[in-house]
Amino acid sequence: MNSKTPSASLTILTDLVLPGETNYLDNLFGGELLARMDRACSIAARRHSRRIVVTASVNHVAFNKSVPVGSVVTVEAKVSRAFKSSMEIFADVWIEDRQSGEKTKVNEGIYTFVAVDETGKPVEIEQITPETDLEKERFEGALRRKQLSLILAGKLNPADATELKALFI
Ligand SMILES: CC(C)(COP(=O)(O)OP(=O)(O)OC[C@H]1O[C@@H](n2cnc3c(N)ncnc32)[C@H](O)[C@@H]1OP(=O)(O)O)[C@@H](O)C(=O)NCCC(=O)NCCS
Repeated sequence: MNSKTPSASLTILTDLVLPGETNYLDNLFGGELLARMDRACSIAARRHSRRIVVTASVNHVAFNKSVPVGSVVTVEAKVSRAFKSSMEIFADVWIEDRQSGEKTKVNEGIYTFVAVDETGKPVEIEQITPETDLEKERFEGALRRKQLSLILAGKLNPADATELKALFI
């Protein structure tokens, strides 16, 4: 199988926060942000695999800062690593200051998508060759996160999680 770079899958979604998308404190509702992240990651997964893709798991989401109504929110999604049929995708979320345009990172999420055929059966995909330091760091950690996700889903025996065990030796 050939390999592609993470930037080939880069997907940038920019949109406003409207009043109907907020909570009682007039900040963006968490589920709305998750939907935007899921959409961006889905496009990134599709760009990498050129296949039908489905969300297999949401492995980590950190709502570090609230996002006020009226904010311009940008979700940047990129495939960090590809396995046999699954891909890990990072979604980094930024808001920008109205006057200065300065960007602040408010949130990060890590999604797993699986490439499937028309019957929903997983299919093999191209690998990833990371380029930047951050891409290399995310690539390195991806197998650990995959094993943890599979353990939490009851799909992997912790005794078989070699990459995770290596952390504690
Ligand atoms: C995701 C799905 C295709 C996996 O199918 P499956 O029969 O479990 O297939 P497999 O066991 O062969 O897993 C396929 C890949 O997904 C990975 N995977 C499955 N569950 C996972 C999880 N919870 N976390 C991380 N990876 C997971 C497997 O490790 C495997 O990866 P690899 O091929 O890269 O090694 C299937 O469960 C599905 O269709 N789920 C519904 C998806 C959906 O509707 N999403 C929208 C949610 S509303």
